[in-house]
Amino acid sequence: MTAPWRRLLAGAWLLAAAAAVQGQAQPQPLPPPPALAASDEEVPFITTPDRVTLAMLQLAGVGPGDVLIDLGSGDGRIVITAALRFGARGLGVDIVPDLVARSQASAARAGVASRASFRVQDLFDTPLAGASVITLYLLPEFNLRLRPRLLALPAGTRIVSHDWDMGDWPPDRTLTLAVPEKAIGLDKRSRLHLWVVPAQLQGLWCGPGGLALQVQQHYQAVQATLMHGAEQLALAGRVDGARLQLLGSGPGASWAVELGATGALRVQSAPQGAALQAGHQLQPATGASCGPGR
Ligand SMILES: C[S@@+](CC[C@H](N)C(=O)[O-])C[C@H]1O[C@@H](n2cnc3c(N)ncnc32)[C@H](O)[C@@H]1O
Repeated sequence: MTAPWRRLLAGAWLLAAAAAVQGQAQPQPLPPPPALAASDEEVPFITTPDRVTLAMLQLAGVGPGDVLIDLGSGDGRIVITAALRFGARGLGVDIVPDLVARSQASAARAGVASRASFRVQDLFDTPLAGASVITLYLLPEFNLRLRPRLLALPAGTRIVSHDWDMGDWPPDRTLTLAVPEKAIGLDKRSRLHLWVVPAQLQGLWCGPGGLALQVQQHYQAVQATLMHGAEQLALAGRVDGARLQLLGSGPGASWAVELGATGALRVQSAPQGAALQAGHQLQPATGASCGPGR
């Protein structure tokens, strides 16, 4: 087990132990430490409390059209709740066979076995294609190891992590919930982070009439230069899934652009009279510039 969980578990266990000792005239056996998965794993089995599970699924906006994967699914509660309460389909993977068997039995009991499946698998070997929502209750270093694969998922895929962040990839939203019944941690709070996978827009985009848009992207944040002949306009922007909002300096200098399935950027709205207009399409440059024959 790695340090953050060890600290949290140790803290929770010591508190429980102290409470047990204080409340008793006679010394009593200490409460057992929280249930851990098999000893050679690094992330122990600790359940997300039900209220927090619901909040995670609401934060991701899970609905009947979604396919959810819970990486490290424990007793299956997130996938089962997504199927039962939100009508989604889901898959849970865990490396502990007993937990997977327990999850399958719970899904059958809840009548959602056709929509909530589970398998024994290392989460790092689990294909993520086809998922519209990924849920995580792991460890910071697990999140960081998963991050490149998560960023490569289709724009708009939602990721929700209980408690742990993704390093310098800032969440799109964070919720903090008071959770008095939480089994671990001293402050009895859960932090829920939501990321919406941003479209990868880094590079040069070429539009009609020699228009060019140079994009520098850092996760959801964009700096761009719009070039038209000798004119250059500096823009700042933000990517929200497949949508890009670009802002210039003056009032009303705002563009809404969307990455389409064909790989082109299509301008949805633009300031009146701007060179880059609604309906314009920008294609990724095939060379170093947007000149003729690009
Ligand atoms: C903190 S529990 C979370 C359980 C569940 N997702 C929830 O939120 O209630 C983490 C789970 O990840 C599983 N796990 C740890 N390492 C794993 C790995 N490499 N591949 C798959 N599962 C793993 C553990 O067995 C444990 O059940």
